[in-house]
Amino acid sequence: MTKGGLHTARLVVLVLVCCTARICGEVEEQGTCSKDDGVDCGSQNLEVTPVITKLDGVEVGHVQDVILDGKTHQMKTLSMKPQVLEIQHFLTDDECDHVMRLAEKVGMFESVTNTPTKSRNVQIMDMNKDTVLSLREFILTIENSFDIYLDEGDMLKMYADLGMDHNADAEISREELYGQDPKSVAEWLEEYVTKLPHKKSRMSRQAWLYPSKVRDKVLDEIQERVVSLVGLPRILIDKNDEFQVVQYGPKGHYHAHWDSGSWAEKYPCCHHVKTGSGERCKSCRFMTVLLYLNKVDGGGATAFPIANNETFDEHSFRMSGKINLHQHCEDANLVVPAEKGKAIIWYNHHLDPTTGWVGELDSFTLHGGCGVTRGQKWIANKWILVSDEREKDMDPNYRPNRA
Ligand code: OGA
Ligand code: FE2
Repeated sequence: MTKGGLHTARLVVLVLVCCTARICGEVEEQGTCSKDDGVDCGSQNLEVTPVITKLDGVEVGHVQDVILDGKTHQMKTLSMKPQVLEIQHFLTDDECDHVMRLAEKVGMFESVTNTPTKSRNVQIMDMNKDTVLSLREFILTIENSFDIYLDEGDMLKMYADLGMDHNADAEISREELYGQDPKSVAEWLEEYVTKLPHKKSRMSRQAWLYPSKVRDKVLDEIQERVVSLVGLPRILIDKNDEFQVVQYGPKGHYHAHWDSGSWAEKYPCCHHVKTGSGERCKSCRFMTVLLYLNKVDGGGATAFPIANNETFDEHSFRMSGKINLHQHCEDANLVVPAEKGKAIIWYNHHLDPTTGWVGELDSFTLHGGCGVTRGQKWIANKWILVSDEREKDMDPNYRPNRA
């Protein structure tokens, strides 16, 4: 599909008997043997373990042609660590408008449903163990325990409102902290975030669109275009076919986060867990296809704060405050402006070269939506879900999450 070619993970062949390109051209894509041309592959005991592949961005600035629906698009490499590829005019203006209208028709709802101040045990983040909480350390303490992201001005207001900082040195000593009723801090935060909802990790509205349920020609065409673009087994996309449409209003944002979970977590992937079962699960989003649906009047870029860094240390990143994309959008290493009809794609996971399937989370994909300063921002997310259980992913009859 691409002139730059596919970077194909090692093909794992258990028993490969018959497949010539002519007979079973779809084998690599579908993971099953085609019976086209009257060839009964099954009777020849053919079994090929399916693999997944990534598009190859080659190098930053590289532009390659991709042919989608008979139309040539240009795909540009924005970054290699993580690999982020951009396709302008992936959607037409009419398609963008149509998707926004569909989402409104289906009904948009608040993206964050959990109560921001409903917390587990509060862990005091005295990073340098000097028994005093600096502004940053207190901000981190709150971020870790609540869904609230404050800046230094917010903190000083809290100290003043609660009379916490007795000696007005902008630091909270152990005595100052323990002299405070912890409930008063929680109540202050609750009230503050109710007044200023953009202090949450995310402020947006969203809707889910399921092409299989909506039965909409335009949505089906976009889905097909995504399938052709990514070159992954289409069963993965057909089984979990949803688009998430997101609308950010003024001050809307989504602080830096990963779209997928760490493979080291032993929970099952959420798309393999029965809806409503309450079972703890991790999201397994191998790939993100992000579609920009409108022209944003101010702000609203997508930021990748640690793209191309040599190393990544989560603790020091959190200490730096750069998770907050109201404050630190411009500090991000890669900033992609929102442009109507544009698509960007990236892989949240590495490939596992020994299995040919999905591997560990790629930490450098950390990203988020910068604050919208003027107007609205609309996007659609298409996540391609792949789990660590290849057989379930490839089995068309296995759909526990669609009960
Ligand atoms: C998301 C996301 C980025 C953006 O919805 O998961 O990362 O630019 N959005 O809105
Ligand atoms: Fe995201």
